[in-house]
Amino acid sequence: MLTTMLGSMADVPKDLMQEIKRLEQLFTVDTAKLKAITDHFVKELEKGLSVEGGSIPMNPTWCMAFPTGYETGTFLALDMGGTNLRVCEIVLTDEKSEFDIIQSKYRMPEELKSGTSEELWEYIADCLQQFIESHHAGEKLDSLPLGFTFSYPATQDYIDHGVLQRWTKGFDIDGVEGKNVVPMFEAAIAKRGAPIKLTALINDTTGTLIASAYTDTKMKIGCIFGTGCNAAYMENCGSIPKLAHMNLPPDMPMAINCEWGAFDNEHKVLPRTPYDIIIDKDSPRPGQQAFEKMIAGLYLGELFRLVLVDLHDNKEVHIFEGQNIDKLRKAYTLDSSFLSLVEEDPFENLSETGDLFQNKLGITTTHPELELIRRLAELIGTRAARLSSCGVAAISKKKGYETCHVGADGSVFNKYPHFKQRGAQALREILDWAPKKNSKEEDPIEILAAEDGSGVGAALIAALTLKRVKEGNMAGILHPENFK
Ligand code: GLC
Repeated sequence: MLTTMLGSMADVPKDLMQEIKRLEQLFTVDTAKLKAITDHFVKELEKGLSVEGGSIPMNPTWCMAFPTGYETGTFLALDMGGTNLRVCEIVLTDEKSEFDIIQSKYRMPEELKSGTSEELWEYIADCLQQFIESHHAGEKLDSLPLGFTFSYPATQDYIDHGVLQRWTKGFDIDGVEGKNVVPMFEAAIAKRGAPIKLTALINDTTGTLIASAYTDTKMKIGCIFGTGCNAAYMENCGSIPKLAHMNLPPDMPMAINCEWGAFDNEHKVLPRTPYDIIIDKDSPRPGQQAFEKMIAGLYLGELFRLVLVDLHDNKEVHIFEGQNIDKLRKAYTLDSSFLSLVEEDPFENLSETGDLFQNKLGITTTHPELELIRRLAELIGTRAARLSSCGVAAISKKKGYETCHVGADGSVFNKYPHFKQRGAQALREILDWAPKKNSKEEDPIEILAAEDGSGVGAALIAALTLKRVKEGNMAGILHPENFK
């Protein structure tokens, strides 16, 4: 039976109904709370730019212009995200905002994420070399400029430099935190004699901002809602007190990688549940990325799993009674795509969810249990989308953007059901917009699917950097010889 209505809760017994109500209270973030979070967020963004600093890093990136659409040249881009490694070759053509791209994806082996630094750089250099060998076999290549999308918090005194502040997204590789990653990368490349020179180290959010602005000049913020969650926007150097000592022209632009995943690490406003506290405690970096741990793809399935195990272990609640839940007890066994499937189940009797639990976890579910499961997925997915919008609202408020476009990318934004609508609804509540007159009308601030930031964005930032160096702007350049 296919219906558009949610299944009925009529047969849900009292104990499960009570739990559903408790979970609704725990996971629902109302308008007033969203507004309070946003107001605190604005202050924290400011603090991150100040000399004293705060918990949001607000990293200057030395990406100092929006593209015009007329950038040209051939570039390599290396994208080290949370899940995959991707190598691209991008040709920015003479046509406005046009490019050609070839790319290869390599899976990031799970062991690498907690292995040694050497293993990481060797693996990356091997992938790059393999890419060049398969696409340029037998050719004699001049060194190609490379944009390296390294999507972790890094302090950049220069664009071709970046000291890893800390690993995020579950990475835990020894010997990299507190060090400049560029020489490590370059050493592995040099060993192979690959014809590559690193031009720019970038963050995926900065790439997303620049790639999106390449085709749409209304784009003012770049966001990633994926394994991790973060944003970048363009600031004026004059509004970055921590760079005052460099005497940069006050109206010169500077992209800021917010690293907003670290928002509220001191737990002042976010409505954390006991499950959020467990996620944090059991992560490789407790106390870090408080905001990200409530909303990013890496954690959504784990939150869901923790709630279900807790309910099963609670004697007062009868769920999965008498069943072996060993598979469900394994940490990080469910990812956010599992939650997506639960939310996408089109059937009144939630039979697809039932099959999922049977096949993946060996658990046979009753209809009332399925109703609780579905509601829980909705609550976790909705909370993630609503909290994410606080960050977008905060940057918009800080910059005084009343209308703009926001470019967003990442698995959660692109694939999680209803994420976009729920996020848009939350923005409307936070910013007090009047109801739309018709469904075609745009919101004043629209979060739209971005262009490929980690590939095309990295190439564009490399191109913009080569261009400004040629014009004599040497701010934030460590190795000018690489820019000839
Ligand atoms: C994490 C990283 C950040 C990245 C985001 C999205 O928050 O720290 O650098 O932008 O994930 O990939």
